[in-house]
Amino acid sequence: DRTYDNCIVGSGLSGSTIAQQYAALNQTCLVIEKRSHIGGNCYDYIDDETTIRVSLYGAHLFHTNSERVWEYVHRFGEWVNYEHRVLGKVEGKYVPIPVNIDTVNALFDLNIQNEEEMNEWLAKEQVKFSDSNGNVREAQNSEEVALARVGPRLYELIFHPYTLKQWDKEPSDLGPEVLSRIPVRNNRDGRYFSDNYQALPKEGYTSIIQNMLDSPLITVVTDTDYFRVKDRIRCRRLYYTGPIDAYFNHLGWPKLEYRSLSFERAVQHNTQYFQPAAVVNHPQRRDHESGQEVDYTRIVEYKHFLNQTSDHTVYFIERSTDEGEPYYPVPNAKNKELYKRYQEMARKEEGVRFVGRLANYKYFNMDEAILNALEVVDEDTGRIEKDVNR
Ligand code: FDA
Repeated sequence: DRTYDNCIVGSGLSGSTIAQQYAALNQTCLVIEKRSHIGGNCYDYIDDETTIRVSLYGAHLFHTNSERVWEYVHRFGEWVNYEHRVLGKVEGKYVPIPVNIDTVNALFDLNIQNEEEMNEWLAKEQVKFSDSNGNVREAQNSEEVALARVGPRLYELIFHPYTLKQWDKEPSDLGPEVLSRIPVRNNRDGRYFSDNYQALPKEGYTSIIQNMLDSPLITVVTDTDYFRVKDRIRCRRLYYTGPIDAYFNHLGWPKLEYRSLSFERAVQHNTQYFQPAAVVNHPQRRDHESGQEVDYTRIVEYKHFLNQTSDHTVYFIERSTDEGEPYYPVPNAKNKELYKRYQEMARKEEGVRFVGRLANYKYFNMDEAILNALEVVDEDTGRIEKDVNR
């Protein structure tokens, strides 16, 4: 019966940040979550059999350059500095990902020593594209982008097969933006991210989000789909962090496409580690030694994160799929066009704010999701006069 100042659909980082911020401003919030748990895709829990903390929706590494976000997340728990390193299994060898000097030396049996030599090597590999007049032209699709950036050898060993597995499409059929930011390092930096701040929450993400929502002004209901209860709740403002197309479901327009992941859990008893790093990417289609098909993209072994201890280890084999939870927006013209139409509708929807990765049909890192949510509250409360029209 009660009227809430704010109703918030979704208890992921976006929804939880908004709820926390309004509670701090002494406003009441109702957070409605359709899953049986809070935390959105950051949700983690302790695996019963091994007592190792694992994530239900894939590995989550926190990294940011934003002072504001870094300060903000520290209000809700302890963080331990952690620099993520990823290895790729390529031609039977474990090599650093992103590609750096050590990757190239290992794969091509070279002895590149410094940035200058690496730049020289890369320049020789890189393919230049020219138009019919012989002028250098921009790469038109993801295959060309990759060839221009790393050349045909690294492309065939790593980027071509990995992209095929990940998107089930040839890179030549994907827009240039998909592979446009392939990081290649001309040094020996083996870190996956280069942000100033990189850390993991000591007690896990669920605990951080739990603490964000811990206020007498915030009511959280799980196992509740907003669309089933929307006629029964009263709110002055609505913040919607679910999929934008689901909100406009009644329009009969097509669904926005997502690529998803499946996770196959496996346990090894009385084993220190299954693999040499927390995350090992498997770009190639076949195993170098056995020739057997490798249909997965990555294997994540959570025990490596914050050096967790257990007599056993648990790992998750990831495969890219079309069915399942919405994870990665499929970047093509059709979806972009469709999203624009939804966005138009969203603009006209009074009293409703569309926030977060699903409502924006955009891949957000955690820090981007938090910053975006903080800025939405800035705007809506006039805390910073950024966008006077809202
Ligand atoms: P999120 O999806 O988390 O939350 C939305 C919530 O809304 C969900 O809980 C959903 O159930 C709920 N909901 C939807 N519809 C509803 C309805 N009708 N009624 C009620 N509730 C509804 N980022 C990063 O910085 N480092 C990393 O390493 C990773 N790793 C990573 C791996 C994988 C596999 C993915 C898919 C994503 C990442 N991310 C990441 C990104 C990170 O997951 C992302 O930034 C946050 O989850 C975004 O939080 P949101 O709250 O926007 O969405």
